[in-house]
Amino acid sequence: MIAGQLSQRVVVTRDAASTRALAGALAAAARPGDMISLVGDLGAGKTQFAKGFGAALGITDTIVSPSFVLMAEYRGRLPLFHVDLYRLADAADALAGGLIDDRQVEGVTLVEWAERLADAMPQERLDVLIDGSGDEPRRITLRPGDATYARYLDAVPAGVEAADGDGVEAAMPEDGGR
Ligand SMILES: Nc1ncnc2c1ncn2[C@@H]1O[C@H](COP(=O)(O)OP(=O)(O)OP(=O)(O)O)[C@@H](O)[C@H]1O
Ligand SMILES: [Mg+2]
Repeated sequence: MIAGQLSQRVVVTRDAASTRALAGALAAAARPGDMISLVGDLGAGKTQFAKGFGAALGITDTIVSPSFVLMAEYRGRLPLFHVDLYRLADAADALAGGLIDDRQVEGVTLVEWAERLADAMPQERLDVLIDGSGDEPRRITLRPGDATYARYLDAVPAGVEAADGDGVEAAMPEDGGR
C-alpha cells in the first residue's frame, strides 16, 4: 500500500438493522486502544452503529446516546467507551476533562460528532462517515487514518452492498492514473 493512498470503502445500508449488522461485523476487528470517529448529521445513524458494534462486543446493556454525560462506558469482550460531543461547547473542554485519555487504551472508543475535536482527535483512527437521514439509504464511508486501521476494511462482510465509486479509486487523486 502506498503511503497517503490508503484505500477506503463505501457501502450502502438500507435500514437501521443493516447498519447495526455492519458495525457488528467491524467489531470483530476491534483491538484495545482503537478509536473510531462517527461523523454524520443528526439522525444519520451514529448511535445505531454504536449499538451494533457494542452488541458484537458482548455488551448486553442498552447503548443510548450519552446525552447527559460526554462519555459512557460499557463492559464487553473489550470495554466500550461511547462519547457524544454534540453538546460540546469547545474541544478544549473535552481535553481538559480528560475525555480522550489513558483510560481508553484497554477498550474501543466510539466518538459521535468527532469532527468537533478537529485536530485534537488522534490521526490513528477509523473514520465512519454516514451520509443520509430519515428513510433514505445510508452511504457509509470507512476510512482508515493509518495502515493499522485498514484491517477494518477487511472485516466488511461479503454481502454488504458497495456504493457506486467504492474502492481504491475513490481515495485516488482526481487525475490518478491518467
Ligand atoms: N440505514 C440506516 N442506518 C441507520 N439508521 C437508520 C437507517 N435507516 C433509517 N434509520 C433510522 O435513523 C435513525 C438514526 O438514529 P441515530 O440515533 O442512530 O442517529 P445519530 O446519528 O446517532 O443522531 P444524533 O446526532 O442525534 O446522535 C434511527 O431512527 C434509525 O432507525
Ligand atoms: Mg447519536
